[in-house]
Amino acid sequence: MNRQGGSLIPEPVLEDGTVRLRRWAATDLSCVKAASDEGVIPGGTTVPVVFTEEAGREWIERQHSRTGRGQGWSLAVTEISRGQAVGCAVLLLRPQEGVAGLGYWIAPEARGRGVASRAVALLTEWGLREPGLARVEAWVEPGNAASTGVLSRCGFEYEGRLRLFLSFPTRRADAWVFSRIGAA
Ligand SMILES: CC(C)(COP(=O)(O)OP(=O)(O)OC[C@H]1O[C@@H](n2cnc3c(N)ncnc32)[C@H](O)[C@@H]1OP(=O)(O)O)[C@@H](O)C(=O)NCCC(=O)NCCS
Repeated sequence: MNRQGGSLIPEPVLEDGTVRLRRWAATDLSCVKAASDEGVIPGGTTVPVVFTEEAGREWIERQHSRTGRGQGWSLAVTEISRGQAVGCAVLLLRPQEGVAGLGYWIAPEARGRGVASRAVALLTEWGLREPGLARVEAWVEPGNAASTGVLSRCGFEYEGRLRLFLSFPTRRADAWVFSRIGAA
């Protein structure tokens, strides 16, 4: 893994002309609030279940600390034409060398126009190229058609089902595993 001192290489700025991924900013609180208020996102992420400005600021600070602590990269997803953050894309390192888990969410008002697909393509291709990951994997709850649509569009391959692998506050669920791999 390409490290600088004890830290990972810094959060990149990635863009494709429509979507830009960048470091989280203190001004992105409204995006965190949209995710908190959405209902499903807080159950599968660390987004605050109940949004307050303080909880939102702490969440953004935790995203900044991920790279410095060697955990991975958490980026704000923005639509270039509008400038503001509408979602999140993360790569978090697994214990296995060269393997990272991919996560993503998009605020409801920005869904259905390809933002997640663009963000996942940008971050995955960067991860396989710059830090030199061997494998990027995603765990998806069966039936999450929007999420599997994103992964299929981005060239991820379905590998199998992990029974009762996911843990939510009040239940467990199976996970479908998808991956993309770099050049061997
Ligand atoms: C999953 C999520 C990130 C998708 O964001 P998005 O920006 O709307 O996704 P995109 O517009 O890039 O593409 C979604 C794909 O799923 C399809 N899709 C969207 N909603 C769908 C639905 N309810 N049922 C079936 N297909 C759906 C789209 O048509 C598109 O497919 P295509 O590539 O064949 O055209 C968003 O719905 C979300 O944040 N969900 C909650 C959090 C979550 O589930 N995260 C993933 C955890 S693994």
